Amino acid sequence: MRARARINLNALKHNLQQVRQLAPDSRVMSVIKANAYGHGLLKVAGALGESDAFAVASIEEALQLRKAAVTKRIVILQGVIDRDELILAAENNLDMVVHCEEQLRLLNEVELTGGVDVWLKVDTGMHRLGIHPARVAPVYAGLEQSANVTNIRLMSHFANADNPDDGLTARQLQILSETAGDIKAEKTIANSAGICVLPDCNLDWVRPGIMLYGINPFQYGRQCSCVLQPAMTVSSRFIAINNTGKGESVGYGGTWTCPKDMSVGVVAIGYGDGYPRHARTGTPVLVNGQRLPLVGRVSMDMICVDLSDCPQARVGDEVVLWGDGLPVEEVAECAGTIGYELVCKLTERVLFEYYN
Ligand SMILES: Cc1ncc(COP(=O)(O)O)c(C=O)c1O
Repeated sequence: MRARARINLNALKHNLQQVRQLAPDSRVMSVIKANAYGHGLLKVAGALGESDAFAVASIEEALQLRKAAVTKRIVILQGVIDRDELILAAENNLDMVVHCEEQLRLLNEVELTGGVDVWLKVDTGMHRLGIHPARVAPVYAGLEQSANVTNIRLMSHFANADNPDDGLTARQLQILSETAGDIKAEKTIANSAGICVLPDCNLDWVRPGIMLYGINPFQYGRQCSCVLQPAMTVSSRFIAINNTGKGESVGYGGTWTCPKDMSVGVVAIGYGDGYPRHARTGTPVLVNGQRLPLVGRVSMDMICVDLSDCPQARVGDEVVLWGDGLPVEEVAECAGTIGYELVCKLTERVLFEYYN
């Protein structure tokens, strides 16, 4: 019995439309790194074909797209690390982010037949990747002088846009604008959370990721400003239903004990499939639209569910772990993590099916 992840390609298209409505004057760079947040790189690229560009983390991800004959603009968010990657990027018409001065030096060391488009990343407050604002002007000038660079755009990345109370987001936007000064280049800073809360940050390009997959970029419980449809629904089935007596414990470690004589369902999914091991007792699952609580520890291949409120459940019945009717954000919160991690972490054991 394999768990299934059904991917609704129309939901991806719908969510892209929501981005277009929130950012009508911006171009959309759909972020499809990490196997399109675990949804399947090539299928998602096909469904999001109306995007103006794609963003991936590494050159390997970009080359997978080119090999599949994707001709759209592709931006490598981490840029390139050495000459070989730079040459490959140029040969495959890939845009690179320049986030450190070593990458500018690299660009000047290699003679490329055709140049590359560069997205110069400014560190406006994330302090992860990016050029310090004080160094942006000379690096920009260096890029302008490089024979290998065709176009230059400016980018930055929000550190905490999913917390609308954090003034850092507005400050980052301001720092980008001040740093750009008179530079006449297209700009981008907005991720999903930025797009949803701060229309001013949309600039020339927006870079949505998580919202394209129908996942609320904010902490579970905070409404999103648009109606997203979950693209991934993960399900499995009951493989056993047991009558367990009051006082008997369920699962490894005996961490949960039946408070009464009751029926406990065993579902064929566990951390070996990517279901989070830290999902706590009470994490909801859906059976025929009814929410039921997980009980005891998640094992490698199975979880257990309290069927007290669902006496009609039978072996073979479908159980939804997240997706339609059960937001992955809610399950993630019960496991002390975020929806991003759950969708990215499904393993090869899970059977992927695409529809629409
Ligand atoms: C540089 C960059 N831009 C945009 C995104 C998309 O962010 P989100 O998935 O929160 O929309 C990411 C994702 O982490 C990113 O690293």
